[in-house]
Amino acid sequence: MIMSRIEAPRDEVTGNLVDRLLSGLPAEAVLIDPDITASYANDMASFCEAGAPAVVVLPRTVEQVQHVMRTATELRVPVVPQGARTGLSGAANASDGCIVLSLVKMDRILEISPVDRIAVVEPGVINATLSRAVNEHGLYYPPDPSSWEMCTIGGNIGTASGGLCCVKYGVTAEYVLGLDVVLADGRLMSTGRRTAKGVAGYDLTRLFVGSEGSLGIVVRAILALKPQPPQQLVLAAEFGSARAACDAVCRIMEGGHVPSLLELMDRTTVKAVNDMAHMGLPETTEALLLAAFDTHDPAADLAAVGALCEAAGATQVVPAEDAAESELLLQARRLSLTALEAVKGTTMIDDVCVPRSRLGDMLEGIERVADKYSLTIGVCAHVGDGNTHPTVCFDATDPDESRRARESFDEIMALGLELGGTITGEHGVGVLKKEWLAREIGPVGVEMQRAVKAAFDPLGLLNPGKLF
Ligand code: LAC
Ligand code: ZN
Repeated sequence: MIMSRIEAPRDEVTGNLVDRLLSGLPAEAVLIDPDITASYANDMASFCEAGAPAVVVLPRTVEQVQHVMRTATELRVPVVPQGARTGLSGAANASDGCIVLSLVKMDRILEISPVDRIAVVEPGVINATLSRAVNEHGLYYPPDPSSWEMCTIGGNIGTASGGLCCVKYGVTAEYVLGLDVVLADGRLMSTGRRTAKGVAGYDLTRLFVGSEGSLGIVVRAILALKPQPPQQLVLAAEFGSARAACDAVCRIMEGGHVPSLLELMDRTTVKAVNDMAHMGLPETTEALLLAAFDTHDPAADLAAVGALCEAAGATQVVPAEDAAESELLLQARRLSLTALEAVKGTTMIDDVCVPRSRLGDMLEGIERVADKYSLTIGVCAHVGDGNTHPTVCFDATDPDESRRARESFDEIMALGLELGGTITGEHGVGVLKKEWLAREIGPVGVEMQRAVKAAFDPLGLLNPGKLF
């Protein structure tokens, strides 16, 4: 029964659907103008199919979400949950005739507790809004995707987002303690806890993190917080090759250092960022490594890491003068994807994560793929996590270049798996990497994932066509 379809003619179905939705939602929460609903069809991924939603709903309460799911179940209409649609795998793309369930209006921070070190939030809260709110209490919510000024906590949970600070603080999954979830049939389930520990039953909270809206609708989250660390200080090191920069990463990790950030931008990315934002980054470098510490003596930590960079062959090591200069370097890094998009108009951004010890092989392999397909592939990477973002820059109006872009993208994933890595470190599977999930986890893995899906969503209504 997974993937049940609408059987009646579309108009009649849509009319009935809208009437039923309006019986439990205010009129302004139900959008049916096709020009407007079409604008909710996609997230930010290229090359991902998207259908036309029948309706977009913008609930403000848990009860309204329950009403939407009960209606969807009764009428057998698929539901595609969405946050800010900054995702990069098509996981939030609409399917034909679906209800797009946008959670952006459920955007309240319900509680911040410095004693329990938790925040309780609705799913539509913007990541940066939460970060700033908890800072005011001397607290820190670490997960920081580059899109943190736009993306929502619900979207972060759905895609198990990472970010720049993960090398020290870990990813979204490590901060989600408990959830309220509206199930496919409209029932409300609470998972997890607000305590520091808890092992009661299966860890359904963790199961929902990264489930891409395929198991239920997160309507409230209990998030763990850390004490706010001192302001981080950044160092920039230039290298004559990506291999040398990766060698520096290995030395830093082997040496037991705990940087709060360890990022790489290759020559293409540096140039793209300079072209777009005139940041004055050094364009002669093949690889620019950014390392940061948020310890009480960051200058001492940076000196030690700077020495390791030099031992690995860095041609220049420049610590930032102060917090403001550090922030500028981070801004440059966060701009990478947008800047690479400007190179040829379209990008396919990959997300392959390999063991850190294989990073040099990965980056050299990406250069080989770029040569083979005669393409520009810029790389920025959370190298401290082994998580690379090879970004194929291409002209989508050129069919041959588009074909080569897709083939090179696939070849990079194959390389990642060969090196003992994963096809996605933080962007998720969505539509973009469906076939590749099966290759990574194998047929038994897929069978068990489908069994979990069927337990939560026996009618196959939640975000159909994603993941597998
Ligand atoms: C970044 C996004 C693309 O790291 O994951 O900038
Ligand atoms: Zn990233």
